[in-house]
Amino acid sequence: MVFLRPQSQTVSGYAIGIYFVPKSLPSAHYQKGEIAMHIYIVFAHPSKKSFTWEVLEVFTQGLRDANHTFEICDLYEMNFVTDMDLDQYTRESSLDVDAQVPQDVKREQDKIDRADALVFVYPVWWSDCPAKLKGWFDRVWAYGYAYYYENGEHLISKIQIEKALVLCSAGHTVEHLEETGIAESMRQIMLNDRLLGVGVKAADMEILGGMVEHDEAVRLKNLARAYQLGRDF
Ligand SMILES: Cc1cc2nc3c(=O)[nH]c(=O)nc-3n(C[C@H](O)[C@H](O)[C@H](O)COP(=O)(O)O)c2cc1C
Repeated sequence: MVFLRPQSQTVSGYAIGIYFVPKSLPSAHYQKGEIAMHIYIVFAHPSKKSFTWEVLEVFTQGLRDANHTFEICDLYEMNFVTDMDLDQYTRESSLDVDAQVPQDVKREQDKIDRADALVFVYPVWWSDCPAKLKGWFDRVWAYGYAYYYENGEHLISKIQIEKALVLCSAGHTVEHLEETGIAESMRQIMLNDRLLGVGVKAADMEILGGMVEHDEAVRLKNLARAYQLGRDF
């Protein structure tokens, strides 16, 4: 989706270095290519003073400016249980499609069912997502919801999500993560296995890297990119 901002329009906003992030823009001035989406955002970082939190803020500002609606699932804030307990393990491993899932898992699945798109915002920790988010997948991608077998082999999902975006911040540069193969392994696991592998129709990953140097220019460039990804979603 591409949104065009008329040159003559003056808007209030805040400057991120050379990048300008508008606070709000009248939607009538955008040329919308598609109908606005409802997006479920899963956020996994313990701190609201973190760079990753700033990424969430500018990304959602972009979504607002593009007239999308969204709901944020803040895994730390809501204290989401991310350990698979014995009861759920027994349910998952018995492949019993009729067995109840825990209520908190059901609430997550219902929120996903109301969304057109999914977005994950998190920091790269040890070359993957934080354990809090990994545990969300362990529990929410339950048997009978994210996958189930029919006739002994076929893999079917109930997830009806048009597209997903994985937005992760990283200490290393993107170049380093690509050269070492770590970026590719993150894409394989997050995109191919956890998203496309359960029926999400399209999935992309954006790594906002180079944060370990605490370089202000890098921070601002990454934030501008996060805003743009929200606005062009
Ligand atoms: C426990 C931990 C593990 C980390 N592992 C990695 C890593 O494997 N690769 C990487 O590029 N950055 C790694 N980082 C750096 C974070 O990704 C980076 O600090 C973060 O994306 C941006 O900072 P924030 O915590 O202020 O959001 C790690 C940071 C922490 C705290």
